[in-house]
Amino acid sequence: MPVRVTVNGDAPYDVVVGRHLLGELPGMLGDGVRRVLVMHPASLSATGEAVRADLKEQGYEAFAVELPDAEEQKTAQVAAFCWQVLGQADFTRSDAVVSVGGGATTDLAGFVAATWLRGIRVVHMPTTLLAMVDAAVGGKTGINTAEGKNLVGAFHPPAGVLCDLAALESLDRWDLVAGMAEVVKTGFIADERILELVEEHAAELHGWQGADAAEATWDVVAELVERSIRVKARVVGEDLTEQGLREILNYGHTLGHAIELTERYQWRHGAAVAVGMVFAAELGRLGGKLDDAVVARHRAILESLGLPTTYRGDRWDKLVSAMRRDKKTRGDLLRFVVLDDVARPVRLEGPDPTLLAAAYAEISTEPPTGRPGVQVQLGL
Ligand code: GLY
Repeated sequence: MPVRVTVNGDAPYDVVVGRHLLGELPGMLGDGVRRVLVMHPASLSATGEAVRADLKEQGYEAFAVELPDAEEQKTAQVAAFCWQVLGQADFTRSDAVVSVGGGATTDLAGFVAATWLRGIRVVHMPTTLLAMVDAAVGGKTGINTAEGKNLVGAFHPPAGVLCDLAALESLDRWDLVAGMAEVVKTGFIADERILELVEEHAAELHGWQGADAAEATWDVVAELVERSIRVKARVVGEDLTEQGLREILNYGHTLGHAIELTERYQWRHGAAVAVGMVFAAELGRLGGKLDDAVVARHRAILESLGLPTTYRGDRWDKLVSAMRRDKKTRGDLLRFVVLDDVARPVRLEGPDPTLLAAAYAEISTEPPTGRPGVQVQLGL
């Protein structure tokens, strides 16, 4: 039986987690929709076409656009092309968009839906772990500009989200592991059972075998997805526009975003967030808030999944200036989420620079020598 999690807000919606959920799509699109644009990256053209064909069979006028893969699709040019398709097919306020893809597709399709006629319905069908537990839920949409990632966007909650676990069958292990960083984050900020599940099953998750994974491993993945979504649903249901509570979802992200920028986006988001979480944990410890054991737990869990927990020591100045430019910085003050304990996140604004440098020293390594290491294995 699929699991249904409701996200509260002005227009509540359901996130359904299960298998083979296409039959749920018309219900999520709701009444009055005649035309549907399915947006999918080139690498998912078979899945996107299957969704389009199914919608057509159900009586909708169904269209599809094939997008560039990954971040390449999150541009103003691609958005403009989608607006052109919507315009030429006479999409009205009561028509809808369906996204089929990872977080980049969710962000772009959400943005196109948010901006067409000042907002039409969108249903997300995320196909990666990261998109299921993070990007597809919560209504953040956006595109990149030459100056940075996600600088243009809107809050536009979907009409519903279908997390079809069957999509994870074809996910390679590093995609799964990179998505697990956000799952672990959710555990540290809000749900210790997530941490216990990862601790008990790290070997299977690290060696993810997709369709060949044991049934027990699938059960664990399903529970992790569901628990992560429940936390995210509760948080964004209370604070859609990030006025307060939603900030806890940025645990590990202040330094994580700076690493991504410094690495020119050659690192996966999850890997950068993993390092960022250890940094935040060290900040908490050195600030006298967090026990050594919880910091050690960060390292143990992330390393057991094969995620990095250190970063080159010669990059601190670059990282600080990247953090200062981050769109979440307010005025001159750097903002971090730290923990008092597991599931007890607090905001830390404008910490002492010596504390920051000391925390960085705790995660620093020698600059890489070019030998392959975990970062290369991660495809960073
Ligand atoms: N990924 C953080 C958020 O949705 O707020």
